[in-house]
Amino acid sequence: MEVGRVTIVTILAWCSIFLSSEAVRHLGNDLEVGFYNQTCPRAEQIVADVVSRGITMNPRNAAGLIRLFFHDCFVNGCDASLLLDTTPSGESVEKDSGANGATLRGLDIIDEIKAQLEQQCPGTVSCADILAFASREAVARSGLSKYPVPAGRRDSLSSHAVDTPGNIPGARLRLDAIIEIFTRKGLTIEEMVVLTGAHSVGAAHCRFFDYRLYNFSTTHRRDPDLNTVYANFLSSMCPAQQSFFVELIRGSQPVYFDHLSPNRLENTFYLKLLQGIALLESDQAMAKAPETREIVNRMAFSPEEWSNKFTQAMIRLGMVEVLTGREGEIRKDCRAVN
Ligand code: HEM
Ligand SMILES: *[C@@H]1O[C@H](CO)[C@@H](O)[C@H](O)[C@H]1NC(C)=O
Ligand SMILES: *[C@@H]1O[C@H](CO)[C@@H](O)[C@H](O)[C@H]1NC(C)=O
Repeated sequence: MEVGRVTIVTILAWCSIFLSSEAVRHLGNDLEVGFYNQTCPRAEQIVADVVSRGITMNPRNAAGLIRLFFHDCFVNGCDASLLLDTTPSGESVEKDSGANGATLRGLDIIDEIKAQLEQQCPGTVSCADILAFASREAVARSGLSKYPVPAGRRDSLSSHAVDTPGNIPGARLRLDAIIEIFTRKGLTIEEMVVLTGAHSVGAAHCRFFDYRLYNFSTTHRRDPDLNTVYANFLSSMCPAQQSFFVELIRGSQPVYFDHLSPNRLENTFYLKLLQGIALLESDQAMAKAPETREIVNRMAFSPEEWSNKFTQAMIRLGMVEVLTGREGEIRKDCRAVN
């Protein structure tokens, strides 16, 4: 009996090792740099031009595009399922889920890119690859190097809101649960910490962090990990009782992750974590937890290492559970299946 149980446990252990290494190995198998060299040679340039104009018009778009890519890749892989407005079964789509909701930005830029690519090379460039190219341009426009993007992704045939919870981490999710999500996607803990440096650009709405100011726990009204000066600043941006005047002036404007340089990707994000200056509880947790704090420390003091690792990690993010070959389709309109 004992022996039987040990055997089963051993077999289960081996299975999980096999399955997880399988998942890692599967990352990006069939993608290649220059995938459209023959079929649509100007594809990447067209993406670059449209993104560049979009960011010039509104610098906030860079952060929006980077986040779109992350949210697409973490729900059923980088397959543009995030972009669908409707799905054949008529269910709610990923866009409708609370984790995405009205906070997605940059969707109009993707539409513009797709429209131009359909004119140049109809039915050729997938929406999933457009997201990968567009987020690369956004990263480059935010101060990092222009890394090569392996392509050849295909687009999903459906999108389901129910697949979003459990795959998109929330700001109040425990760090071990966030780690579980990233490792399930085949990414490492270091890649998780490195990618979260994306929170040096863009902004978050008060509701994702104002509980840290007013209603943190039964013992602390304010999150004790939050730097006092910063907390006072945040309280002025997100008052407990949103007065009529504040509402009038600010509306529900999001607050920049980094109010000094909201559009630059930079490792100062990690330096600020070390000082208790983080908008999100999930970010702050990375500076504290034994699995991540050494990585945060290292990234805080090695700008070069962080920026290299960030672009590498973006390439790996783009390899999560991709559709290739004859899987899926090349959508004509990123908002609907063909
Ligand atoms: C580690 C777990 C993560 C959590 C809990 C998280 C959570 C959030 C939240 C709550 C917001 C604010 C959304 C809003 O109010 O509009 C946000 C914004 C953002 N996130 Fe994350 N995120 C995580 C990881 C990532 C990763 C890996 C990336 C990209 C590689 C990323 C990129 C962004 C960007 C660029 C923004 C700003 C978007 C904008 O300004 O439009 N996040 N994130
Ligand atoms: C496409 O062209 C680039 C630049 O000339 C080259 O580096 C790359 O290997 C090519 N890729 C394919 C798949 O032909
Ligand atoms: C404070 O937090 C608790 C626990 O998360 C929640 O149930 C309660 O509704 C919150 N109160 C306010 C005023 O937001």
